[in-house]
Amino acid sequence: MLWIFVIFLITQLPPSEAVKCYPGEYEINGECCPMCSAGTRVVKHCRESSSTTCMPCVDDTYTEHPNGLTECMRCKLCDAGARLIIKEKCSYTKNTMCGCDLGYFCRHIAGLDCEMCRPSTICLPGSMMKEPGTEFHDNVCEVCPDGTFSATNMSRTCQSWTKCEEEGMTELKAGTATSNAVCVQRSLSVTAIALIIVLAVLSVFAGTAFFLWRRKKRETAQAIGDELREEVVKNLIWTRKKGSDTNLPVQETTKNPSTSALHST
Ligand SMILES: *[C@@H]1O[C@H](CO)[C@@H](O)[C@H](O)[C@H]1NC(C)=O
Repeated sequence: MLWIFVIFLITQLPPSEAVKCYPGEYEINGECCPMCSAGTRVVKHCRESSSTTCMPCVDDTYTEHPNGLTECMRCKLCDAGARLIIKEKCSYTKNTMCGCDLGYFCRHIAGLDCEMCRPSTICLPGSMMKEPGTEFHDNVCEVCPDGTFSATNMSRTCQSWTKCEEEGMTELKAGTATSNAVCVQRSLSVTAIALIIVLAVLSVFAGTAFFLWRRKKRETAQAIGDELREEVVKNLIWTRKKGSDTNLPVQETTKNPSTSALHST
């Protein structure tokens, strides 16, 4: 009965579609066999008396759909050289899905699977990341507008330069696209200048005082020296006198006691 039906179909349809099988069937040698389910493959085609014999896929192979394949498909490898990484591991019913390594985005997409990666643009200092990249899109960078800066790679924002005057400070170094303005405490510099002046005046005073003190000391020393000298001279004279006096009695004690009596007074 089936045969008659098939022959009828063959005669009715164009030669290229000689055998038309139902969904869930595959054609082999002009016959229709039931398909094996996803994750399995055909081991033996169906016969008039028996259905298709199927076996599961093994060892990094898969079949994604119901099929009449006698071999499972080999799982795809993610090429590390192209910076591809495994996004989803292969299963018996699904091929490997590749994605891109960190710092890369997918350039060639086939479905959700990636075939080629590209390094993501780094937003360098002086720019900011206006739009962060995605798996399939590059980062979008934007140069910092005037009056703002970013000092690091991949800054999310550009910061405004510090306005030193508004902060009550003085600008030491103007801001650039990659660095902030450098401010110095104004009150501090005034204090520093005042301190320097005070120190200078103090040292002048101290120097003068020291000079005067030394001169006075020298004068005093000289005066004392003069006095001493005078004293010494006087003493010398006195001693000499006394000596002449004393010498005499020693020699004269025996000769003239009257002189020693004169000396003791
Ligand atoms: C910023 O990125 C550039 C380019 O990749 C790199 O040479 C540099 O070392 C990075 N700088 C920092 C601070 O990470």
